[in-house]
Amino acid sequence: SRILNLAVIPGDGIGQEVVAQGLKVLGTVLPQDVKLETTEYDFGARRYHATGETLTDADAEALKRHDAILLGAIGDPSVPSGVLERGFLLKLRFLFDHHVNLRPSKLLPGVATPLAGQPEIDFIVVREGTEGPYTGNGGSIRTGTPHEIATEVSVNTAFGVERVVRDAFARAQARPRKKLTLVHKNNVLAYAGHLWTNVFNRVAKEFPEVTTDYLHVDAATIFLVTDPGRFDVIVTDNLFGDIITDLAAAVSGGIGVAASGNINPSREFPSMFEPVHGSAPDIAGQGKADPTATVLSVALLLRHLGYEPEAARIETAVSADLAERGAGVRTTEQIGDALAVRVAG
Ligand code: IPM
Ligand code: MN
Repeated sequence: SRILNLAVIPGDGIGQEVVAQGLKVLGTVLPQDVKLETTEYDFGARRYHATGETLTDADAEALKRHDAILLGAIGDPSVPSGVLERGFLLKLRFLFDHHVNLRPSKLLPGVATPLAGQPEIDFIVVREGTEGPYTGNGGSIRTGTPHEIATEVSVNTAFGVERVVRDAFARAQARPRKKLTLVHKNNVLAYAGHLWTNVFNRVAKEFPEVTTDYLHVDAATIFLVTDPGRFDVIVTDNLFGDIITDLAAAVSGGIGVAASGNINPSREFPSMFEPVHGSAPDIAGQGKADPTATVLSVALLLRHLGYEPEAARIETAVSADLAERGAGVRTTEQIGDALAVRVAG
């Protein structure tokens, strides 16, 4: 029999509640011969206040032993902004080389969108996850004076750009529409824009079946609202990807259903799957959080580990559940139960 050895990080706020439902659905969908082993880790605000730690070397070593990581949400108003983001989430993305930040956007039937006319939305964003302005390559001089100068250098390596562009081409190739859009700002960001565009055009030659397209990021935000149906796969850098995936989530059902994977495609280190939403401390502990985004993140996790039929079963269950969702309000647990029932039968 096979073993799925999962690290579980519920984290802060609603993280605990949504992860519990994700695990419930995972336990139900796995084939009989797969043994699910979970180890829970207490990263987040509580650990930080108790010990001052966000993620130690020993923690990282422990996490490395797992097949994958399921994360709820990290973040609390009691911790200064940036401490947990940089000390935990970004640190893990860098340490485990999560260079493919995968964020699908699919508007499912019955799901409300602020856009007019219920357009068809079904695209994925492949956001670079380890470079760009996220590397901490910056500094400040004359700090705190009226002449302060702060820099935040966007790091783009040929190696880093090529591997994420290749991954995006492969994903586009595998989809029915086979279309890939590069999103950047090469009219202004001359050096990084040049590197991205050159690498994109060079790799494109190896994927003759994939239709390619280029959009400046500002124009991309317009089309995400006026014509989201034009997108199939988008590849972009870390910061543009951060921004457009929030917009993408907003038009395709909101953060209640937006899933993501921080993926290391080589599987050298475990990949981490998490809902796009945060810890929502204002509604924590009340059973109000929608666990759907976490459940869909579990589907991405399963697909990454090769459990394609199980991943598809979860997505079908979520589709059906959303389509039949009435006006009635259900608790976090009721939604989790409904999804578990659907994947079981
Ligand atoms: C995300 C988040 C993070 C990011 C923050 C919390 C550091 O916004 O996962 O999109 O900017 O990547
Ligand atoms: Mn973000």
